[in-house]
Amino acid sequence: MGRVALNGFLFLAVAVLVAAGWILSPDLTKPNFEFLPQMAHSPRYNAFAPNPNFGDGSTLQRPEPGTIARGSMPLHYAATPQDALRAGEELKSPLDLSSVRARERGAFVFSKFCAVCHGAGGTGNGPVAQRGYPAPPSLLAEHALKMKDGQLFHVLTYGQNNMPSYASQLSREDRWNAILYVRTMQAAAAPAAPSTSPLKAAQADPAKVPGGQP
Ligand code: HEC
Repeated sequence: MGRVALNGFLFLAVAVLVAAGWILSPDLTKPNFEFLPQMAHSPRYNAFAPNPNFGDGSTLQRPEPGTIARGSMPLHYAATPQDALRAGEELKSPLDLSSVRARERGAFVFSKFCAVCHGAGGTGNGPVAQRGYPAPPSLLAEHALKMKDGQLFHVLTYGQNNMPSYASQLSREDRWNAILYVRTMQAAAAPAAPSTSPLKAAQADPAKVPGGQP
């Protein structure tokens, strides 16, 4: 093939390509021909739109039974007094009970979330109780002293009679922090009283308790 013929052939090929491009996409304001367009633009369904791809015909699918939220360990208790007792036997505080940080955080949580009803000292004379809400029993009384940590956790998590659940306001760690602070108050108020609390002797020393009762 001569050189002129080759150039002529290449020129013709370019002309054919340009013409083909023009024919396939004559409107320059529109996108070009798309091969398998659904790969680039997959069909979407609104959450509540009917959906032929699922057996039940709806887009929003229920989670599989037993699905748990990421990062949340399930608690297998019911909001019953029996399960509160069971929680008392089974649940142990995950905190380092000598942690000053946890106790200080517990004092903060108690002052913000509990003192309104239970009173700053835990005796049940908070402003909400003074204005007519059924007064809670003193947290320093025999009954609360005998409750185990896991039982307190159950009360904070599921509520108990007039005491509402604090599961949605307080993380689990903050519930345990608050319990640690309740134990601190109890130990500071009555160091000699028999208690199921596993608090160390050091924590019963009021001098070392931030905000504790003398
Ligand atoms: C809205 C008022 C209110 C708030 C806020 C509140 N409580 Fe209570 N709490 C009560 C009442 C009322 C009871 C008594 C429930 C009953 O009759 O069984 C109670 C009971 C308890 C008990 C069981 C005491 C016992 O002897 O049976 C514990 C422990 C307790 N609360 C801890 C807390 C902690 C910790 C907080 C903060 C996270 C808190 N409460 C916040 C009203 C409140």
